[in-house]
Amino acid sequence: MFFQSSRRSVSKGKLMEFTSSPFFPLVLGSIGVVALYQLLLRVRQKTHIQDAVVVVTGASSGLGRECAKVFHAAGARLVLCGRDKERLQDLVKELTGAADSQRKVQNMTYPPSMVTFDLSDTEAVASAAVEVLQCFGHVDILINNAGISYRGTILETDVQVHKQVMDMNYFGAVALTKALLPSMVQRRSGHIAVVSSVQGKIAIPFRSAYAASKHATQAFFDCLRAEVEQFGIEVSVFSPGYIRTNLSVNAVTGNGSKYSVLDKNTAEGRDPHDIAMVMLNCVSRKKKDVLLAGVFPTLAVYFRTLCPSLFFFIMASRARKEQKLKDS
Ligand SMILES: NC(=O)c1ccc[n+]([C@@H]2O[C@H](COP(=O)([O-])OP(=O)(O)OC[C@H]3O[C@@H](n4cnc5c(N)ncnc54)[C@H](OP(=O)(O)O)[C@@H]3O)[C@@H](O)[C@H]2O)c1
Repeated sequence: MFFQSSRRSVSKGKLMEFTSSPFFPLVLGSIGVVALYQLLLRVRQKTHIQDAVVVVTGASSGLGRECAKVFHAAGARLVLCGRDKERLQDLVKELTGAADSQRKVQNMTYPPSMVTFDLSDTEAVASAAVEVLQCFGHVDILINNAGISYRGTILETDVQVHKQVMDMNYFGAVALTKALLPSMVQRRSGHIAVVSSVQGKIAIPFRSAYAASKHATQAFFDCLRAEVEQFGIEVSVFSPGYIRTNLSVNAVTGNGSKYSVLDKNTAEGRDPHDIAMVMLNCVSRKKKDVLLAGVFPTLAVYFRTLCPSLFFFIMASRARKEQKLKDS
């Protein structure tokens, strides 16, 4: 009892001492500045996304679906793109249902529009872009998210498969971006985001087609950022590590067949909803290049630049190990 009350009076004394010290206003001021900054960020996020026309490709599943949900909840006017009309319709139903239940609290969401097309078909992309523009008259934010992955050895992979992955991951995003860009330039405003991958920064064995398509994506959008800044257009490249989606299941193999395996790394990857939330935040803050990977992939990105021989050594032993596993 005595110890308790003496401990209490000691801590009370320490608190009094602290509040009367010259550091107290400094700490209080810092907390105030941080709180104000957070508030400003929230206001900025709201103004950037609320009512904005946001196009999401690959909205039928995985990360695209989660992006649709978070941008919708933030008040965006969505144009959902995908190949599968039924799955997009299901998503629209889910979003408008969620909006109905939110309506009592905040009346700020819009029923999404849909445009179905195959992104790897350049001609289809050009006419789909016209449809996309007709939905709301313009586009504020384009999220190039759709993509396919690949598993295989270079030795056993058809060139056709390299082209298929490139057509989807690279030329699809390039074609849609180019088709929507003139209207953004005309309005002198717009934001183009692309979901690349950590494999757009480092190449890992048995992923050649995918890593090549994502490296090309990174390069194209880096060039684009520099070229369109003068028109008030922002470009964000997102490079995530593993995300818990069906990407590996939907991946193509060297002969063009579906891989159909949920890889352990993908199954244990980050929650797509969390990544979508980070993307919403980064788009609002107009971040230019965002690496969303764990410690080891992030270190690998630095090793590739600062100590390439070490990186090549690690990748070669990884390839030997994986090959041995496959052969056994
Ligand atoms: N999951 C990961 O570990 C990971 C890591 C880094 C980066 N990423 C990137 O994240 C993005 C989203 O992938 P995800 O993980 O969400 O995988 P996902 O669940 O397989 O989603 C891929 C989306 O792309 C669409 N798509 C594929 N081919 C298409 C085509 N030819 N035309 C139009 N749409 C097409 C799919 O539509 P359908 O339903 O019509 O097939 C699907 O909606 C991709 O760019 C991927 O490279 C993923």
